[in-house]
Amino acid sequence: MSIKVFIRNDYQELSIKAAEIVEETVSDNPFPVLGLATGKTPTGLYRQLVADYSRGIISFSNVKTVNLDEYAGLSADDTRSFAFFMKKNLFSHIDILPQNTYIPNGAADDLSIECRRYSYILKNLKRDIQLLGIGSNGHIGFNEPGTPFDSTTYVVRLAESTRKDNFGAFGGMENVPEMAITMGISDIMSAKKILLLASGKNKASAVREMLLGKVSEDCPASILQRHPDATVILDRDASRLI
Ligand code: F6R
Repeated sequence: MSIKVFIRNDYQELSIKAAEIVEETVSDNPFPVLGLATGKTPTGLYRQLVADYSRGIISFSNVKTVNLDEYAGLSADDTRSFAFFMKKNLFSHIDILPQNTYIPNGAADDLSIECRRYSYILKNLKRDIQLLGIGSNGHIGFNEPGTPFDSTTYVVRLAESTRKDNFGAFGGMENVPEMAITMGISDIMSAKKILLLASGKNKASAVREMLLGKVSEDCPASILQRHPDATVILDRDASRLI
């Protein structure tokens, strides 16, 4: 089991390669299930999927999606929520049925019940592929360093570095939620295939730890070394320490 690594010159080429792999997954399965991610990294991929859908190359009418995570306290119509991000960047531009898209409900009254509900959904929807970004601290989903590898969907307190990386959308650190709901590491690992994308110099050291470091809870992404079918796509900047 070794991670397959593709290095592309820039972000645009990385996004095109990622779209190729996601579209292959969609075409190869009669009822594809995609695990999706938010953040800056997958936006180029989503743009490419939308472009290919507009050109009639791909359809999402039979696709189901399950997202990795959501901030606690934000409802789906909050413009800073991941649910809103997904609509804006992908769902509202393609032919996916809204009822086939699953994201944790950050505004649920009882977040632990919401986690159980989401775990149940994950158990019943076998993901053909799970898309991931990587945090500058090596997190995947919102599984921060130190998270047990056997974790399943739970409420997490976000690391300061993660809140800092994401404060842009919130107009200041004090507005970034402190908690989130995230798939656990064991949930992520149960997808048939993993596709992790990393772009930019600030990811280079986390990428090195993930690919070349020892498998350790100190770098959650290092667990991917144990996945039977994991692919990583990097741009030059993100690959500069390997
Ligand atoms: C997003 C997620 C996070 C991001 C990671 C990288 O759903 O779970 O793990 O993938 O924080 O974020 P960006 O892409 O903004 O650098």
